[in-house]
Amino acid sequence: MLEDLQRVLISEKRIARRTRELGREITGFYHNQDVTVIPIINGALLFAADLIRRIELPIRMDCIRVASYREDTRPAERPDMIYSVEMEIENQHVLLIDDILDTGRTLFTITRIFQHMNPKSLHTCVLLDKKDRREIPFEADFVGFDIPDRFVVGYGLDFAGRYRNLPCIGTLKPELQNPPEWT
Ligand code: IMP
Ligand code: MG
Repeated sequence: MLEDLQRVLISEKRIARRTRELGREITGFYHNQDVTVIPIINGALLFAADLIRRIELPIRMDCIRVASYREDTRPAERPDMIYSVEMEIENQHVLLIDDILDTGRTLFTITRIFQHMNPKSLHTCVLLDKKDRREIPFEADFVGFDIPDRFVVGYGLDFAGRYRNLPCIGTLKPELQNPPEWT
């Protein structure tokens, strides 16, 4: 699988180091308060699993599922939340976790839905941020790494459902992408 990568952008070691730092930042930010962590699966699964073990706070966790990518590298126009939370959100500190902030559509849409559930506070944490790709103004409160406008896979991020289990993050060889012009 590693041989399908054109380049490793972020090594497993750097991911681990930055995840520890983010855990400390988040721990300090909430000062012993209870936090409800909401990972957006599938992409945020690996990141969230590692991150929550670095957060020294009483947390609850509930996953949501959003359909935003189809079988290729182009984003859907409007993401849908197809599996929502079961936990009570009202009056809770909520931290949404996603793998990558790209056009901004997913987190823009999802944060609006969560605002309607009246949380005590609502913040967002993403592992990766592709600022150059933003179509809707949106900034995450906690960001692991800023990355250039390239389609990446690994550590939870997929291409057509594959490569999520790569321990690092990298770009795919162009001949393995579809459509080939969108790299
Ligand atoms: P946005 O709604 O455009 O901000 O995109 C967010 C979602 O698109 C992420 O949660 C990912 O699932 C997916 N996505 C965006 N860029 C990439 C990428 O480079 N590789 C894999 N998935 C991506
Ligand atoms: Mg995703």
